[in-house]
Amino acid sequence: MITACAVEDLPVGESVRIPGEPAIAVFNADGEFYAIDDTCSHQDASLSEGWLEGCFVECPLHAALFDLRTGMPTCLPAKKAVRTYPVLVEDGVIYVDTRAREAVA
Ligand code: FES
Repeated sequence: MITACAVEDLPVGESVRIPGEPAIAVFNADGEFYAIDDTCSHQDASLSEGWLEGCFVECPLHAALFDLRTGMPTCLPAKKAVRTYPVLVEDGVIYVDTRAREAVA
């Protein structure tokens, strides 16, 4: 488990990037926290800099849309899923389990 940030530091509609190999993006989508690979599966864009639309994030470079729950892209140009990671909230702190979960088809 790695620490992402305090719950109060990640308001609804915001994201945070956890550097590392791989870097992970954590999102607050309407009060639910999700963690996925930060690097888009299409090219080298940071998904934490994308735009949240409900449970989806739009890549800031070519606008592929990823489902935060599964990591699956829902439109081109991305064809490959990004990995998702379990998120745990405890005592006001957001943790990410870095044992990657492959995308659910
Ligand atoms: S880099 Fe994300 S869609 Fe191209």
